[in-house]
Amino acid sequence: MGIPSSVTPIVRRLEGKVAVITGGASGIGEAATRLFAKHGAKVVVADVRDDLGRALCKELGSNDTISFAHCNVTDENDMQNAIDGAVSRYGKLDIMFNNAGILGNMNDPSILATDYNNFKNVFDVNVYGAFLGAKIAAKAMIPTKKGSILFTSSIASVIGGIASPITYASSKHAVVGLTNHLSVELGQYGIRVNCISPYTVATPLVREILGKMDKEKAEEVIMETANLKGTTLEPEDIAEAAVYLGSDESKYVSGINLVIDGGYSKTNPLASMVMQNYI
Ligand SMILES: NC(=O)c1ccc[n+]([C@@H]2O[C@H](COP(=O)([O-])OP(=O)(O)OC[C@H]3O[C@@H](n4cnc5c(N)ncnc54)[C@H](O)[C@@H]3O)[C@@H](O)[C@H]2O)c1
Repeated sequence: MGIPSSVTPIVRRLEGKVAVITGGASGIGEAATRLFAKHGAKVVVADVRDDLGRALCKELGSNDTISFAHCNVTDENDMQNAIDGAVSRYGKLDIMFNNAGILGNMNDPSILATDYNNFKNVFDVNVYGAFLGAKIAAKAMIPTKKGSILFTSSIASVIGGIASPITYASSKHAVVGLTNHLSVELGQYGIRVNCISPYTVATPLVREILGKMDKEKAEEVIMETANLKGTTLEPEDIAEAAVYLGSDESKYVSGINLVIDGGYSKTNPLASMVMQNYI
């Protein structure tokens, strides 16, 4: 469970930090926005959903602490404006959370049904968008010789066969590639680069593909497939990881892909299921 919205944490782990969160208006990004703000960060929510983003910022504070930037992550000007906005309004950039992502065409996720437009659309948002965010953030962070760049990848970056299209899985592998490479390239400037790979979370993205299922039902379905029983993976759990990786608590952590899957990627129940028939 995340921290209830009415409670301010005793230790504000992001006090004095400035963050930009792409896809910060919904799902995992929204949970991160809420938790970052609660931990004392000043936040720019960068998203294409102006309605959701503005409403969230209004709920959480004034322009002095949180603001919205319309930002399509595939558009270099939008990304530049979002990051420039953070620096001009709040003085610097400490944390760049490249979280926006899309699943792509779920009608037929097989390689045979995947065409160029489908592939390009997913790579534009999930990979190029993350690349742009990292590039423009790095420019702002290098002179200060510190910073934390985060990406949201996915469980699909470490195992196959997850119910997502090949385009999505490939794009999320590429996000881990960005993490690996940039953790080396930017280490000399004191900039840490990490990635978070969640198992399935009942966000709007997932509920949409489950036929616009309500949150409780979606969580039930996800729980059935999960390895770790008796608990549910929530957006707040991913936000907690982002707070850790954005804060000074992780000051020597760079280049990791933090898989948050309750051990799912360690399992393959198929062999034991088949063998049960012979034992
Ligand atoms: N929900 C899951 O099960 C799950 C699992 C693993 C990884 N992820 C990843 O987590 C991230 C967040 O997904 P979510 O589940 O919270 O989904 P979501 O749909 O609830 O939120 C995604 C947000 O990204 C924004 N967005 C989409 N395209 C954008 C663009 N071009 N520019 C700017 N913003 C854009 C959307 O408007 C939305 O606010 C994604 O990268 C997703 O791939 C999700």
